[in-house]
Amino acid sequence: MRTGIASMGSRASKRNTITVRKKRHLEVCLREKNFRIEDVRGAGFGAIHFVHECLPEINADGIDTGVEFLGKKLSFPFLISCITGGTLDGSPLNISLAGAAQRARVAFGLGSMRILFHEPKAYKDFAVRSLAPDVPLLANIGAAQLAEFAPLRILEAAQSLDADALVVHLNPGQEIAQTGGDVDFRGVMDAISALIELNRLPIIIKETGHGIRPRRARDLLARGAAWVDLAGAGGTDFLQVELACREEGSPDQIANPFASWGLPTALILAALRVQRSPGDRREAMPVIASGGLRNGLDLAKSLALGAGLGGMALPLARACAERGEEGITGVLDRIHHELIMAMFLTGSRTIPSLRRADLYYDADFTALLQGLLAAEEGYAHG
Ligand SMILES: Cc1cc2nc3c(=O)[nH]c(=O)nc-3n(C[C@H](O)[C@H](O)[C@H](O)COP(=O)(O)O)c2cc1C
Repeated sequence: MRTGIASMGSRASKRNTITVRKKRHLEVCLREKNFRIEDVRGAGFGAIHFVHECLPEINADGIDTGVEFLGKKLSFPFLISCITGGTLDGSPLNISLAGAAQRARVAFGLGSMRILFHEPKAYKDFAVRSLAPDVPLLANIGAAQLAEFAPLRILEAAQSLDADALVVHLNPGQEIAQTGGDVDFRGVMDAISALIELNRLPIIIKETGHGIRPRRARDLLARGAAWVDLAGAGGTDFLQVELACREEGSPDQIANPFASWGLPTALILAALRVQRSPGDRREAMPVIASGGLRNGLDLAKSLALGAGLGGMALPLARACAERGEEGITGVLDRIHHELIMAMFLTGSRTIPSLRRADLYYDADFTALLQGLLAAEEGYAHG
């Protein structure tokens, strides 16, 4: 079932709807002053603290932030989260992001490739592998498209972009807020399983700003997802983006009751950590921390909580709009430097040793964590 106006239409009108919407998302996201599209609560990292180490006993110049992701080496555990594609404007954003990812040696996620199924000319917007030959490149498709296209067709499209993995994004909050959104989410889990069973590419499941609850994250991994990307609350909120798209400047948008929907990223990570045995905590989880990460200290805390990688979208899209590839490179350099600072001040020479760094939480955060863990228990027995 679909809501509103976009339930029918020719291929051309579908293509136009997709490209107009994608352009509008970018416009809204880049003009923060007019629209509040980030969750005011933040992602929770401000309530988590490292125990300072006054005697680090390491040389900061010898800190090694390298990790492996999807069989490729990264200079630090970072993903440029899926942002865009399919605006049919030559995609300067994807070109700049790909170039900056290659320069910084971090992973790069393309935006939804849905448009490729309606407009083959859009292929050039996504064909950026030659600009980022050495880093993991992720193709992206929405949950709703899993019902529209055969799993093999989707995987072949991802492989035609020379992607290292396929990301499936879950966005029920965005779809229900969107005029004409795809609101039939029945059968998505089976469709994900069908993609996994074809065994052509690793499958990564991500949200789009409301988070994946811990139990669901473990369930997805148990069913064969290679990674889950939390994309939790506290950063870009696509429910708000959709409302802003259709109600420019409307007071309804400002007061809307879903302004703080979703699970903050740091809270999900902390809950996943509690649910692991102390021995397991030394290893990274196949979990990407994203949604509201805004600096290298947020990234360091995510890694200490057990994430394998951290990711960001909005700050990089904005840096690109302001100063192109150089702007993106500047943000990536800053994040890397801040990560190194956090590692020095916790006496962590490598990423595995950062995972052993001690953390403590504000009382409010601990209370929220207990609440979430109790809800998870209820889910288990309910
Ligand atoms: C302009 C823009 C476009 C996005 N497009 C996609 C997309 O096509 N597919 C997707 O999975 N996520 C998309 N996202 C969501 C991001 O990948 C990310 O999950 C979300 O923005 C939260 O991260 P942030 O707080 O660092 O922005 C987009 C985000 C932005 C800002």
